[in-house]
Amino acid sequence: MRSPKDFFQPLALGAPDPVREIPFRPSRMIHFFDPSNPKMVAKVPDMATKADVLLGNLEDAIKADNKEAARAGLVEVGRNVDLGDAQLWTRINSLDSPWCLDDLITLVTEIGDRLDVIMVPKVEGAEDIHYVDRLVAQLEARAGLQRPILLHAILETARGVANVEEICLASPRMQGLSLGPADLAASRRMKTTRVGGGHPDYLVRADPVDGDIEGARATAQQDLWHYTLARMVDACGTAGILPYYGPFGDIADVVACEDQFRNAYLLGCVGTWTLHPKQIEIAKRVFSPEPSEVLWAKRVIDEMGDGTGAVMIDGKMQDDATVKQCRVVVELATQLAANDAELAEAYGL
Ligand code: GLV
Ligand code: MG
Repeated sequence: MRSPKDFFQPLALGAPDPVREIPFRPSRMIHFFDPSNPKMVAKVPDMATKADVLLGNLEDAIKADNKEAARAGLVEVGRNVDLGDAQLWTRINSLDSPWCLDDLITLVTEIGDRLDVIMVPKVEGAEDIHYVDRLVAQLEARAGLQRPILLHAILETARGVANVEEICLASPRMQGLSLGPADLAASRRMKTTRVGGGHPDYLVRADPVDGDIEGARATAQQDLWHYTLARMVDACGTAGILPYYGPFGDIADVVACEDQFRNAYLLGCVGTWTLHPKQIEIAKRVFSPEPSEVLWAKRVIDEMGDGTGAVMIDGKMQDDATVKQCRVVVELATQLAANDAELAEAYGL
């Protein structure tokens, strides 16, 4: 048992008060870089002008021999690189790895004032978040931080999906969730070797004509990730935190990447991971509302006056619920336009 009154108390003496709302900052793309790679680090200032979030990756894709160099490289970036309006996130190593404890101790005490969000991989249940929550509070107190660092969990194990609601609700620090389709596929023993995206064999087929089962029959490919994304969006909405698509591994296939990002956007996600500069442009286009949608939404809100009753606009029925839908679009457009003159003009805001 825990009193709701205690939920917003710091978990260590001297740690900053937990946040009550997740602050809105654009996070349409969480762009991954390897802090152990000097070439990538040199590009960070330029990337920061293009991406909403830069994430120094310490976990998978970083060779075991480079783990310490990556941690040290991220400390250097945090200390010395001006990222302008871009946020700085990290993905630490998993809780059962030999590096996780030092990742947390070093990053929170050395650059905790620069880190916005810590992404925790392979989260299985609320107990994983509770562990990180308390440890980060102790380290924040040690470092004398004034604002709490937020946590983000990757949904990438079967148990994590089964416990997704309790993960989202485990701490006021929880900022959001990302889908981790590669680890999740392995954990579930799915038979795909792709990183995110569709699979041509996952399909449904129309009935045979005149019993001819071998004859031509239309098929439609289904989305392998729909169930998980939809669960994730509902769990995040319940907890007041933000859902994100994860990696799309086929960097060359920019068309399928855009489709996958757009499905996630339409379903309620606010952003995605980007693994290559090409994907940043796609994410920006997809996760910023279409100007025509924003203009339409503004028109519905205007014509609905006090928001009650029902009206027809261009033959389409509008009522309280559609006004709420339109407000979602206009609110997002307004928040994004606040930092982006081009979008502000396109939206007429
Ligand atoms: C990401 O970490 C994934 O496993 O897909
Ligand atoms: Mg993973």
